[in-house]
Amino acid sequence: MKRVLIVYASFSGATEEIAHYVKRHMESAGYTVDLVPANAQHMDLSAYQLVILGAAIRGNTPNEGITAFINSNKEDLNQSTTAIFAVCGTITSTKQNRIDNALTYPKKIASGITPIAEAVFGGEMPSSGWIGNLVGKLLLGVIPGDYKNEDEVKLWSQLVIETLETRQHNRNNIAIEPE
Ligand SMILES: Cc1cc2nc3c(=O)[nH]c(=O)nc-3n(C[C@H](O)[C@H](O)[C@H](O)COP(=O)(O)O)c2cc1C
Repeated sequence: MKRVLIVYASFSGATEEIAHYVKRHMESAGYTVDLVPANAQHMDLSAYQLVILGAAIRGNTPNEGITAFINSNKEDLNQSTTAIFAVCGTITSTKQNRIDNALTYPKKIASGITPIAEAVFGGEMPSSGWIGNLVGKLLLGVIPGDYKNEDEVKLWSQLVIETLETRQHNRNNIAIEPE
């Protein structure tokens, strides 16, 4: 059986919703998917072909639930195949420097783990009053809105599956190759 674990850390729900999109697309590709919120629990990861870690970003920092999960499972995660996604506001920015910064978020989540794929998805930018919104627009290049895009998440999920299956295929071929 092909099993995937998705561990997510959300503040206000967008990351959780995106984690559910990933689950849906992995299931339609024939995988059995367990989805759990991140905290410091130790889990047996050996049953999973893939572990996906997803975290919301606030103040340029991943939700600490994901950091706690990674710290509690570091050794097992280093032995596992992993993929990482971040959910934030500034990936939707009109300013290139903010986008470039947002693209560093998966590495911040990874804290040393090497994933086979990573992604940064737009989440939801809440309105924070007209002054806050103006500052957000001028400074971050982001205006309030819902930037979740299931099609984008679906494409990434497909890419992750292809990468995973290609790696397994190559590994099997190497394993049966005569010496
Ligand atoms: C207080 C606050 C701080 C935020 N800081 C950042 C940030 O540093 N970088 C960024 O790209 N987005 C930032 N965002 C946008 C969030 O990443 C976005 O709201 C995302 O949808 C959060 O995911 P969640 O709904 O799963 O918590 C911030 C949002 C809030 C409310």
